Amino acid sequence: MLNTAQDIEASLRSVNDDIASALGDIAPEVFDFKKFPFSAIGKAARARFTLLASGALGAGRVRAEKAAAAAELTHTASLLHDDCLDTARYRRGLPTLYDQLGANSAILVGDLLIAIAFDRAGCAAPELQAELVYTVRRMTEGALIEENSRGKKISASEAERMISLKTGALFRWCALAACHVAGRPGLAETCARIGSETGSAFQVIDDVLDFEGDSGACGKETLKDIKEGKLTLPLILALNDGEAGPAAEEMLAAMKSGPDAGTGAALARLVIEGGFAGAARAAAVKRLNALSPLVDTLPNAEGAAALKDFLLALGGRKA
Ligand code: FPP
Ligand code: MG
Repeated sequence: MLNTAQDIEASLRSVNDDIASALGDIAPEVFDFKKFPFSAIGKAARARFTLLASGALGAGRVRAEKAAAAAELTHTASLLHDDCLDTARYRRGLPTLYDQLGANSAILVGDLLIAIAFDRAGCAAPELQAELVYTVRRMTEGALIEENSRGKKISASEAERMISLKTGALFRWCALAACHVAGRPGLAETCARIGSETGSAFQVIDDVLDFEGDSGACGKETLKDIKEGKLTLPLILALNDGEAGPAAEEMLAAMKSGPDAGTGAALARLVIEGGFAGAARAAAVKRLNALSPLVDTLPNAEGAAALKDFLLALGGRKA
């Protein structure tokens, strides 16, 4: 069972071991993990969420762990690709694979991890493989919309659609996976909603941390979104503000003609000191809190309480 905090931690260790052994099985002439280390499991938010949702639904431990491994591997694969798109040098406290080996190898190792993720999804429940295919499609659509929007002004609702695809879709899969593993098809709609909302709120907080987070604690560069021409909710709120909007607009335009660290830092200050990062975080917290009544309807009360604690903690995360 996945009832207690100890159960969840023990299962997370199993997920970690499963992923480490899958990577250890890759022949060194294909990819030498020892020579080019990267962190295949980071904060493990998706794995933890899958296990907690499984606990709340009364799912069995072994298949829930397979689903958690599939979720984490899919996420890591997407980050290997994302780091190429963003030319990111630093991830989970280590140089990115893009930095170490370039885009070709980073993309291909990402593809390898996706293949392993599909295997683990099938071990959790056969129908979860097709659901994961759909999920990867949605994530890729979100990433493509983001790519097409680089340097462009997008609205809050356009940003919302993008994050629900690029991040909401995988959290949705995690909750649906728990539902399938628990054999509770009648709760699929509830689980999909919990997953999707959690993912979107998680991404908003990630976007807030890009402005206000500490690079060391986050294990990645910060202030990257404005440098990359990506408009996220904190900046969109600033741009839409009658008072701060014109100054934010001016700084954004100045950055287009050549990003400079000084303007980037000034824009970030405006977003933080104007209260826009705080407002974006408050919106995410509100969404997470609004899930409580839905989580309360899940069959295992002890597991549901642990899932609620996790959701509430997400709202305050600093890294
Ligand atoms: C990180 O977001 C990236 C994602 C949540 C998804 C990216 C999806 C793809 C690249 C599509 C391909 C998907 C697969 C599964 C191969 P972010 O850039 O906001 O976060 P960051 O600040 O940590 O980079
Ligand atoms: Mg990125």
